[in-house]
Parts: sequence; structure tokens; C-alpha cells
Amino acid sequence: MTEGGGGGEQLWAGRFSKPPAPEAHALGRSVHFDRRLASQDVEASLAHVRALQDAGLLDAGEAARLEQALSEVGEDIGEGRFVFHEADEDVHSAIERAVTEQLGDLGAKLHAGRSRNDLVVTDLRLWLLAAGRRIDRGVVALAAALVARAREHAATVMPGTTHTRFAQPVTLGHHLLAHGWALARDLERLEQWSNRASTSPLGAGATAGSTLGLDPDLTATRLGFHRAFANSIDAVSDRDFVQEFLAVAAICATHLSRLAADLARWTDPALCWAELDEAYSTGSSMMPQKRNPDTAELARGKVARIAGDFVTLTALLHGLPLGYHRDLQEDKEPAFDAADTLELVLPALTGAIASLRFDTDAMRAACDDEGLYATDLAEALVRDGVPFRDAHRRVGELLKRLDDEDRTLRDVSEDEWKAFGVPDGGQLLDPFRSVDARDLSGGPSPGSVRHQADALDAFLRVRPVSP
Ligand code: ARG
Repeated sequence: MTEGGGGGEQLWAGRFSKPPAPEAHALGRSVHFDRRLASQDVEASLAHVRALQDAGLLDAGEAARLEQALSEVGEDIGEGRFVFHEADEDVHSAIERAVTEQLGDLGAKLHAGRSRNDLVVTDLRLWLLAAGRRIDRGVVALAAALVARAREHAATVMPGTTHTRFAQPVTLGHHLLAHGWALARDLERLEQWSNRASTSPLGAGATAGSTLGLDPDLTATRLGFHRAFANSIDAVSDRDFVQEFLAVAAICATHLSRLAADLARWTDPALCWAELDEAYSTGSSMMPQKRNPDTAELARGKVARIAGDFVTLTALLHGLPLGYHRDLQEDKEPAFDAADTLELVLPALTGAIASLRFDTDAMRAACDDEGLYATDLAEALVRDGVPFRDAHRRVGELLKRLDDEDRTLRDVSEDEWKAFGVPDGGQLLDPFRSVDARDLSGGPSPGSVRHQADALDAFLRVRPVSP
């Protein structure tokens, strides 16, 4: 940011006989972070100029000159040429100040019927809605990568786990799609949030609108919002569109964290089920042999700050009376941080997933663990009419006896299986047979995985273009 001289006075200086103390000014100044709202501020200001013209407060020539000046200031800021002054409190006052410097009295007409209270929250809604669209695309890309890998591995068997202990055979595709479905819910949440957030506050003024005959509905349409505010006090007070965005972001980051945890676990040399591509691994500064899963670990850890951003907003808002308070200036940094963090994590995880090398032989070999088939054996007894509790106990007792005899299920003879009541028991100890047999809809069989992949792909293809 270019910083200019200390000259100039506050927009509100008329009522005052002295300038703010430097330390009070430093506390209040937000331009170093809210300059990210510059293009939204120009966009909102252009819509406001049109509203002033519609209300007969500007003629066509005046409106055109204001539009020209606003666009130039927007370009200057965008290209880093704009000089922020020490007296500029925030990006909104800096833009108005620059327009007024160019146009004199005409520039001074810009702020009629609006307040920074409705302007700042209009800008932030526009910014967050655009960030939401970028995040939506990032989540879609990650989910699509998961679906593609799931299709490749619809029939790859692996031990499914509970409590991280081997539980029952599943397919790798089924496990990958479990992450995909969580992301689908994130996309739904983002869409619902953006529909609610698409409300224009412009025209609400400081808290009670204005007497100038501005049309908030027309302004809302011009800015691409779904609707204008229903209540001017609510319009300037409401920050639940930020809080809700952060809640949605925190849930999505939680899903990314859990996916990253699986990556770290699968690529653990103790398990060796997968290997991260070198492009998504890091070395150690001391130990030459190391290839560490830092990408996965950071994706796992970043949820902490996004959850913190949600807590920050909740702490900021609770107990705050309605109306604008300067406290609300604190809403922006958590919002920017959460959006930036998701935009950082999503492509890195997508690349890590797309380039991950699975060791399908190691996963298959891990399915030799015969305990994985204990539930299938119990269910074989149930199909013969044995009550499940008895079946569970009988398989448990068999496992205990084999353990005592230093044998495993694979050492049980055909006669013993017959005596046990499951004549084909030996053939049940097969991961492919096991996953094929669990062909319920939503289950781990290869057919179910392909069906789920089609359904998820269809969901990702019809993503609505968010407002
Ligand atoms: N920088 C302020 C914010 O972000 C703008 C609104 C200032 N309004 C006021 N009444 N002081 O909230």
C-alpha cells in the first residue's frame, strides 16, 4: 500500500475543534486491511450514484463525472497507484476523499443518503459472496478429484476401521467417497448461506434510511443482490451473514482436516497404504532420509484458525445492542482470514489427492487379517435363523478358542466349519467376496461405489451459479 503524507482531515471533522490523538487514530484506522474492499466500495458507490440520479439529486452529467472519477480511483487502487493518506480512516473514506479531491463540490455530493454503516456492510457482503463462489469452485474441484480416484478404486479392497482398529473390509473408493459426501453437504451449506447473505443494505443509511427518495430495491438489483433489506436497523446491525459464513467455513475446514488426517495416516510408513507425491511432501532440515506429509498436516491444522475466526465473531457480536458500533469493524479480519485459509488449503489438498499413489497390494495384504470377517461369519449364522446375540457369542467363542490353540480362522477345517454351522466358512474369509456381499445401496460394494460416484458427479455438475 502506498502511504501518503499526514495532511487532510477526517470526513466528520466539522463538529470538532481538534483532530484525534495519534494513538486514537491508530486504534481506529482499518485501511491496512479493509483496502481489500476497494473494488466492492467502488461498485457500491456506482450503484449509489445511480440511485442519487434516479432521485433527481444528480443530473446525468454529474452522475457521469462521478462514475468516471470512481472508476479511476478503483483502477488506481487495483494497480497499486493509489496513495492512502495518514488521515484516511478506512478505504471508504479514502475513496470518497479521492473523488472529492478530483471533483470538488460534486464529489462532496456522493455521500448523500448513505453512511459508512450501510456502505461497509454492503461492501463486505459483496466481497464474501465473491469469496464464497471461489470457495465453492475449490470444494467442487476437490470433490471431483475424490470421485475420480474413487472410480479408479471402486473394487480396491482395504480394511475399514472403527477406533482406527481393523473392523470390516471396505473398498477404497467407498472410503474416498465418504469424504466426497461430506464436501457435498458443505456445498449445500455454502449455497444456502449465499442465498441468505444476498441482501443489500444500501439505502439503510446510518440506521434509519434517508429522506432523499432513494430506492433500495433498485440498488439491490443493480448490485446483483437477491433482495434489499427489510429493516434499516437490521441492515446495519446484522453480521450473522459473516458469522454464518465462518460457521460454514469451520465445518468445511473440519472436513478438510479429517481428509488430511487420513492422508497422513495412510502414508505413514508403518501402514504404507499410500505415498504422497514428492510435490506434496517435504524434507527434513536435519534428517536426510525424511519425506514428511506437511501438506496434509497443515491442512489438518488450519481448521484451528478458522474455528477461531468463528469464535471471534461470536464473541464480538453477542451482547451487542442493535445498531452500528465500531466494534463491528472487527468483523473483517476473521472473515478475510477464513476465506484466505480455505482458498489456500483446498487446491493443495486437491493436488495431493489427485497425485496420491495408493499401494493396493498393501491394502489387499492387510485384508488377510481374519478378524475382518468375524461379522460376516456371525451374519451367516443369522441367515440360518440363529439370533444375532447367539451368533455374536459363538463367533467370539470360536475366536477365543482358536487364539488359545494358537490357530486362526484360516486354520479351521471344512469339518470344523460344518460343525460350527457355516459350511462355507473358509470361503467367507475373502475381502472381495465380503465387499460384494454388502451390496446394499450406500454400502462398500464396487457396484455401490460406481453408483455413488455417478450420483456425486451429477450433484457437482448441476452446481448453481451462486449470486
Ligand atoms: N471502518 C468502519 C467499519 O469497518 C466503517 C464504519 C464507520 N462508521 C462509523 N460510524 N464510525 O466498521
